[in-house]
Amino acid sequence: MKMKRALTLFISMVMLFSAVATTGFAEKIYPEKVYQLGIDSNTVWKYLDDNTDPAGDSSSAGYERTSWAAPDFDDSRWKTANGPFGAKKGGADLGYGYVADTVLLGCEGTNCIPTYFFRTEFEVPTLSGMTKLVGDIQYDDGAIIYINGKKAATLDDTAVTPEKKALCHPIDSNTVHGGSNYRYFTQITFEVYDLSILKQGKNTIAVELHNGNATSDNIWFNMTNLRLVDEPIEHVTNLCISMGDDESKANFTWHSTKKDANTLSFVKKSELIDGAMPENVQKISTTTIMSNDINKYCNKATVTGLEPDTEYVYMISGNGFQSNQYTFKTGAKGNFNFACLADAQIGASFGDASSGVFNKDTDTEEWKRTLYRLDNEEQFSDISFVFSLGDQVNKAWNEDEYDRFLDHDFFKKYRVATVIGNHDTNSNAYSQHFNIANESSQYGVTVAGGDSYFVYNDVLFIVLNNANELESADEHKAFMEQVMEETKNINFKWKIVAMHESVYTVSNHANDSHIIAPEGFRNNIAPIFEEMGIDVVLQGHDHVYCRTYIMDGIEPITESENYFYGKGRDKAPTAVSNPDGILYLTLNSATKAKSYKIKDQDFPFAAVKNQEHIPNVSKIEITDGKFSVVTYRTTDMTVVDEFTIYRDSAAKAFKDIDENDWFYNDVDLMGKNGIISGVSGDRFEPYTPATRGMTAAVLYRMKGSQPETGNLDFADIPVDSYFSKAASWAVYSGIMPGTDNYIFAPEQNITYKQFANALYHYAAPKNNPETDAIKWCEDNGVDCGVNDDEEISRAQMVSMISKLKKIVDTVQ
Ligand SMILES: [Fe+2]
Ligand SMILES: [Fe+2]
Repeated sequence: MKMKRALTLFISMVMLFSAVATTGFAEKIYPEKVYQLGIDSNTVWKYLDDNTDPAGDSSSAGYERTSWAAPDFDDSRWKTANGPFGAKKGGADLGYGYVADTVLLGCEGTNCIPTYFFRTEFEVPTLSGMTKLVGDIQYDDGAIIYINGKKAATLDDTAVTPEKKALCHPIDSNTVHGGSNYRYFTQITFEVYDLSILKQGKNTIAVELHNGNATSDNIWFNMTNLRLVDEPIEHVTNLCISMGDDESKANFTWHSTKKDANTLSFVKKSELIDGAMPENVQKISTTTIMSNDINKYCNKATVTGLEPDTEYVYMISGNGFQSNQYTFKTGAKGNFNFACLADAQIGASFGDASSGVFNKDTDTEEWKRTLYRLDNEEQFSDISFVFSLGDQVNKAWNEDEYDRFLDHDFFKKYRVATVIGNHDTNSNAYSQHFNIANESSQYGVTVAGGDSYFVYNDVLFIVLNNANELESADEHKAFMEQVMEETKNINFKWKIVAMHESVYTVSNHANDSHIIAPEGFRNNIAPIFEEMGIDVVLQGHDHVYCRTYIMDGIEPITESENYFYGKGRDKAPTAVSNPDGILYLTLNSATKAKSYKIKDQDFPFAAVKNQEHIPNVSKIEITDGKFSVVTYRTTDMTVVDEFTIYRDSAAKAFKDIDENDWFYNDVDLMGKNGIISGVSGDRFEPYTPATRGMTAAVLYRMKGSQPETGNLDFADIPVDSYFSKAASWAVYSGIMPGTDNYIFAPEQNITYKQFANALYHYAAPKNNPETDAIKWCEDNGVDCGVNDDEEISRAQMVSMISKLKKIVDTVQ
């Protein structure tokens, strides 16, 4: 089932994009054949509006909720009338020229009944050569369509309480309220691909129509233009490339109407033969599950080994189906750019019935414009991926909204990083549309997914699922600690957090108590970000733009000699050099799906606030010494705000070392070269004792990559620990024997004697093992003046290794 926009009077926008969609060569015009099936506003339906359950007593044995939709169901006690059906406070006139021919009972503004039921028949002349059943429908607030008793289409299929609280599951009862609760009715075209549910001759169509809540004042149902067509089916939809674990990977997701349309063929463009895939093309293995969307499958696959700056071609095939070839280009190594946006939230706009523009259409057209800007404007010409900071859709369950978000050529060309928003979080549909790298099943978890991270060109991106309104930041802290441990061998240029709910914002959500209360999320998470050495936090949710001053914990640094004032000192700083704190950005909506006013309130953290009720999109540029963000209006690509963080090369590798420290140069240099890493975040802890595990890891990194030595059979060396390869190498090459049989003691503090032995055997592995290693160290000036059995600090370890490195480098 697929829904698409049926009607829009948004003429200027349509004209803008119709030019883009022109393919430029003659194609067969579909549909060639259309069979009208005689369903229109005048069709006579049997209907039920008396608040009874047509399937009978739900507590009785053999109860089947949808039995009333079967062809042989006895509907003789139901009423008979033609459409359109509707009511507004009990009357026929819904305004804007929409008047019901048949007034439905039970919708008067109080005690509104949850469900109305409709049945009628239509005649199918032939199914030969036909591909889809298509119909136009106006409905308020949700509907499920059945053909011959089988579910054929679901429209805003979310159960709702009488008090209008959306439940986190589809409609599962004949007596539950349901649907979108939009202010007005929704008008769409639905499509049904599984024509095996139809038969030549007489067929039964049945519709259950749900009212959004018990105090709703309107209801509407009108089905027209039911037809069979021979248009080709889009077998693959919602194709999207999520970020892989790092820049060399890409995580694909697509939905298919055929279960076997799950082969992903992937090849460098340069390896195509006369434009066709070579026979030995790489076929990527796929996992396939049933999608929430009727008769669709959700497929996921990961491509690895991507090279920088390379064009690839891919296609999807299987079961006689073959997609077009799509191209995907990787970004360059090193410096990179990406686009960043928030709250596309397709489906959030109410629209304007008087102009004929209905809710989702407004967001969809704005979204197309935003993607058009990203794909065509000079400012975004070299982006490597796009980051969407949550609320991709308005209703977490809604497949139509996902279609509108994802079904654009843009997502076949670019990788996308996504964040779970509060509007995405209440359904597993999110997990069926995005293939998230390094996703936690333990921390920040909702039904949509959990905290996650990826690395791109030595920049760490931590993606937190904070849309579950957890007031405690402990889970996210535990996740970040795990990430730091897993990535401790990478010397990150920048560390960036992305999360949906902003902790520093100025509009509708500025005073949310779960964020700003003393025990709220802001106070809990800010020190954790500091501790982890985070540079920038990217956020959405408030549909407003807010850029903070550099935040020192929760205190804004409003004055600093490190700020630059490109627009004059009476304005906000435009850049900062070597900040000692974090920049928090809140981005406005990429579609203006909702548009909140800035609160008339003092926000000391806010350097720049902006609300022009215009969609925004930002570009972020990253180099070793620079993080810059420029935010544009999508209407005309003028600049809303820009800010740059400069880090000169003299910036310290670790925050807790000082130029006056005796070990500063060695620690700083080896830190910047990735030979040593911090204990946590940007802290080196020079006076903490060095352990045997650390020593092995540092020597291993200094040696450069080594051939695999196999796993040690040592009980205290877990295969996945950060030092396991290093320890195996150190033992096998005779540099560091275990402390006992099968014991390496990685957490044990290392003594000077053990350390001297390791250095000696590292420098001269073929030398006599009986040589006095301590004497060798002292003779070569590689000592730190402590006694043989004394422990050494991390600073002493680095200092000695640095001296050793000079000797080894000289010898080599
Ligand atoms: Fe949100
Ligand atoms: Fe939002």
